[in-house]
Amino acid sequence: MLSSGGDPEISWKLKVQDLESQLLDLKVKNDELVREVAQLKRENNQLKRMPLFVAVVIDLLGKGEVYLRQQGNNQEYITHVNDELFRQLKPGTKVAVNNALSIVRIVGNIFDARVRVMELEESPDITFENIGGLLKEIEEVREAVEYPLTRPEIFERVGVEPPKGILLFGPPGTGKTLIAKAVAHEARATFIRMSGSELVHKYIGEGAQLVRELFLLAREKSPSIVFIDEIDAVGSTRTNDGTSGSAEVQRTLMQLLAEMDGFDNRGDVRIMAATNRVDMLDPALLRPGRFDRVISIPLPDKGARREILKIHARKMTLIDVDFERIMEMTENATGADLQAICREAGMMAVRKEATGVSQDDFEKAVRKVKAEVIADLRMYT
Ligand SMILES: Nc1ncnc2c1ncn2[C@@H]1O[C@H](COP(=O)(O)OP(=O)(O)OP(=O)(O)O)[C@@H](O)[C@H]1O
Ligand SMILES: [Mg+2]
Repeated sequence: MLSSGGDPEISWKLKVQDLESQLLDLKVKNDELVREVAQLKRENNQLKRMPLFVAVVIDLLGKGEVYLRQQGNNQEYITHVNDELFRQLKPGTKVAVNNALSIVRIVGNIFDARVRVMELEESPDITFENIGGLLKEIEEVREAVEYPLTRPEIFERVGVEPPKGILLFGPPGTGKTLIAKAVAHEARATFIRMSGSELVHKYIGEGAQLVRELFLLAREKSPSIVFIDEIDAVGSTRTNDGTSGSAEVQRTLMQLLAEMDGFDNRGDVRIMAATNRVDMLDPALLRPGRFDRVISIPLPDKGARREILKIHARKMTLIDVDFERIMEMTENATGADLQAICREAGMMAVRKEATGVSQDDFEKAVRKVKAEVIADLRMYT
């Protein structure tokens, strides 16, 4: 500092000058820091823009440590996060990680996926009255699925174990899903449906995790019926061809088998599955303790066709309709075809603004639906 020479006014001036120069100095430093911050921000954004990997939080280990599993390759690792982020994470949270494996942000929650992929109905409103024919098959399913839930004491008294899993197989549209729902209704159980093909084709890398979720949900919502539709997508013999896609399907299948093995036959979660191709199923699925009761759901015979037509025409005003004649015309039709015929006949009457549905409407509808079915078959062959 300069000497003031004793004059107080000069001394003050010098002090002010001195402070001003310090201020300038700091301003320059501040500018530098502001530039550095901007530069770091840019770098940071750049880092965030780098391709990110998706991982799922498996567990929180405390002290900011998080146990993650990367989706796709299933690599597991532990990373460190700040307190604020730590508080927002829980097992099942999906996060984006950069290539240094630090969590960049939260993506969502894997539990959201189970809502997307699983269809859940608390006691569905389908009853056995909605099903035409299939009396023997329905009784078999009730014995294996419903009675263990509603009358477990019978099994205990007699000392037999109900089957672990029930597999329904038959052509598309013959009422497999319908039966499963009606049984859930009768047992006042939650019906949880998951499609095997969606599981492996839509939720790639999440299959095994979703199977785990499925069974967790089933236990949470018990009594419940787990219904795995198109199970051949998860467990066909072609699954093991060594490609990475098949490795993924294999993992999903393994998880399903493990879940089934860990289940009590007498518990209040019952397991059902459906397929059109029982011949293609991995034998591991059919072993005792897995899907050990296989029930065939055939095409409806004449009597069943009459009943199915009546069910779907129940609310219609009919004008001299001869169901016997329609039954004759619909050999090889499925329940779904018969439903389509009723709907189509109804539409014909509506278009004519008629007072009811006539025999002619039905016969035209049969021809139309048959033509559509044949066109479909051509498409697939
Ligand atoms: N036995 C039946 N009685 C009454 N309606 C039936 C019957 N079978 C099928 N249907 C009708 O066809 C529709 C489809 O049946 P469902 O979904 O049960 O077939 P599915 O056997 O599960 O077929 P997929 O193999 O294609 O899944 C049902 O909504 C129902 O309206
Ligand atoms: Mg179905």
